[in-house]
Amino acid sequence: MIDAAVELVVAADPEAAAEAARLELVEAARTGGHIALAGGSTPRLAYELAARERPDWSSVELWWGDERCVSLDDPRSNFHMVQESLLGRIEVQPAAVHRIRGELGGAAAAERYDAELGGVRLGFVLLGLGADGHTASLFPGDAALGERVRLAVAVARSDVERVTLTLPALNAAATILFLAVGADKAEAAERAFSPSADPATPASLVRAAGGRTVVVLDEAAAARLR
Ligand code: 6PG
Repeated sequence: MIDAAVELVVAADPEAAAEAARLELVEAARTGGHIALAGGSTPRLAYELAARERPDWSSVELWWGDERCVSLDDPRSNFHMVQESLLGRIEVQPAAVHRIRGELGGAAAAERYDAELGGVRLGFVLLGLGADGHTASLFPGDAALGERVRLAVAVARSDVERVTLTLPALNAAATILFLAVGADKAEAAERAFSPSADPATPASLVRAAGGRTVVVLDEAAAARLR
């Protein structure tokens, strides 16, 4: 069963899903305000399409949902991915680019990002979905899921430390857009977008409390939701 709080869009294939996300992104850029972007591989095409359609991002302040504590030019850097797929392709840069300074280490980067986010309400947040149900860097059962005050925290991981927006930061957004494709996401999508909120599936805890939660999946990722 699908959570009634979610607007589900099922696209025929990953390219069509990227097109659907592109429409929302371009509209968000046109509206302006605070936009947070996801890392991972899935949104890259949507960013490229949005950059092609909308070369002027001057009314936007750009944020990230999460970041790895790596150097700026590391391919695992979410800033690096957005630089390649969006910022490096547009004509007019955002009014501000609020990069998470992962190279400072998790604690310092999270503290700085949290302070920078003070008083900000995100207008549009793009998120991915991991096969384990994680979103941004909110992982199943992690202590970060219990954060109720801070807007950004550090997250220890066995591969690389990360910084993530917290549930209070994400759920205050006006629009949250999840984008996920592929059969390996079908089980996580079923759990994430069902009506039951469960810390074992962090994405199920992410809903825009006073706004829209839009979920764009391709047929393969939506297979268990229909
Ligand atoms: C990241 C994201 C993460 C991602 C999912 C899905 O930087 O990795 O924050 O939450 O969105 O892991 O990643 P894919 O799009 O690569 O499947």
